[in-house]
Amino acid sequence: MNAGSHGSRIVGGTEAVKGQWGWQTSLQYRGKHVCGGAIVSPRWVITAAHCFIQYNMKLESDWIVVVDTVSVSDLSQGKRYQTLQINSHPRFSLDNNDYDLCLLHTKTEIEMGDGVRPVCLPRLRESFPPGSSCWVTGWGYTREGGSVSSHLRQASVQLIDQAVCSQPYVYGSQLTPRMLCAGVMEGGVDSCQGDSGGPLVCRSEAGDWRLAGVVSWGEGCGRVNKPGVYSRITPLLHWIHQYISDENEESLSTVTTQSDPF
Ligand code: ARG
Repeated sequence: MNAGSHGSRIVGGTEAVKGQWGWQTSLQYRGKHVCGGAIVSPRWVITAAHCFIQYNMKLESDWIVVVDTVSVSDLSQGKRYQTLQINSHPRFSLDNNDYDLCLLHTKTEIEMGDGVRPVCLPRLRESFPPGSSCWVTGWGYTREGGSVSSHLRQASVQLIDQAVCSQPYVYGSQLTPRMLCAGVMEGGVDSCQGDSGGPLVCRSEAGDWRLAGVVSWGEGCGRVNKPGVYSRITPLLHWIHQYISDENEESLSTVTTQSDPF
């Protein structure tokens, strides 16, 4: 173990403190960390669809959700929950990773407590302005072609303008409206393999952390002009709300009621 060593983390980040990112989960396939995820309610974890579909790992009983830990190698740490249902977005495409979102339903309620809490979903019209500093967390590779990290890591990344990220020298037409770029154009700070499905969170004006994106893909890790690409949450909120109801849904139903003609 080199948990105490310096140098790159996630890619270009630092080690996270236990309980700091209380919604972070490790999704483990047959006992091995494969993807990250974020708790959005006691029974639901949001993650990336490609984690299950890319290598055809769709059997619920193979997956365990681990919460309340910063270490994926220390089995004495954390709490484990079985998976009841894997709901990948029906429009997810393996060709271009469009709609790369999945809602995982746990068999029993995830116990909330000190270090374990859900992340807030954004509002329907919430905007995440380019240039904002947000955070990505995970147990993924600490460099391109590296290996997964046993300790949870975090990195501060900037949201990148959609038009900039759609430039030919960045991702061109590979970028869809369901995607959001974040990172550092100069390279060196990024998410990487094994971080997939994990949260990209931004602090709202009210001070709470909102889920802006989910780690999806990127060309290499930390390369110049190749930032991380995240599944954008706001355009997929309607799909998410089919499964999960929360306070934010009030604004949704209010809108519906108001548009009722009589
Ligand atoms: N697809 C990767 C995974 O399965 C995530 C890659 C993110 N890459 C990046 N450069 N941000 O873990």
